[in-house]
Amino acid sequence: MTARASELSGSPNRLAGARSIGALPVVGCWIAAAFVVSLALAALVLAIAGVGEHGTALALRATARWCFLLFWPAYAGSALARFCGPRFAGLARQGRAFGLAFAAALAVHVGLVLWLMAVAADQRTPMLLFWAGAACAYTLALFSLPRVRGWLGPRAWRVLSEGAMQYIALVFAVDFIVEPLQANGPGKYPLTYLPFVVMLVGGALLRLAAQIRRPRMAGQAVPQPHWHSR
Ligand code: HEM
Repeated sequence: MTARASELSGSPNRLAGARSIGALPVVGCWIAAAFVVSLALAALVLAIAGVGEHGTALALRATARWCFLLFWPAYAGSALARFCGPRFAGLARQGRAFGLAFAAALAVHVGLVLWLMAVAADQRTPMLLFWAGAACAYTLALFSLPRVRGWLGPRAWRVLSEGAMQYIALVFAVDFIVEPLQANGPGKYPLTYLPFVVMLVGGALLRLAAQIRRPRMAGQAVPQPHWHSR
């Protein structure tokens, strides 16, 4: 088990939903499917590795990777569409659905954390950095509802969504980069993390490049950034 688990043991989005009658069930299906897959993954790992600290830490890792696969398109989908063309426009348009699916899958991860706290011999560290990440995910999910987001102005929403998405990316970076480096040293960094690191860093660079490139080419329809449902 890694040091962290030991410590613990110590475009306009057409899924706006509000207007389109067909859209809400689609998003609902994404949310339900993401949650069920996350739950099934956790159950499988716990069945194989046991429901103790070791098995729970493994299940946390498995669900975290599934969460990341859902988070990434919400994080980088719009920027990808901007640079790689209309082929990815569909991905960008589904940003909100991916974001909400991520939040649903994360619920299982958080449930496993609570389970770990219950079975761990020693519960000390509050791990505020990670709890804040979960808070960001659910705040975004709440404000992705058009009626709730109406309370914020567009500028406040933009700041909130940008800040929260970048913070969640930071939490992934801590888990995929910082902690394995601290636990193993640069020489023994586990290669299994590399695909996730490439995706994470690539996504961050794409977003940065997309922001620098604004204002965009005239006449080119570009989807709204992540998690927007306007
Ligand atoms: C946005 C929210 C979160 C994200 C993005 C996230 C991400 C991750 C990732 C990527 C891993 C896999 C680490 C690895 O493979 O080595 C992981 C594992 C873990 N997470 Fe989370 N997490 C979040 C929320 C939380 C919260 C709220 C807690 C508890 C306070 C938590 C506790 C853990 C623990 C204990 C592990 C297992 C570490 C290990 O032993 O390998 N996570 N998380």
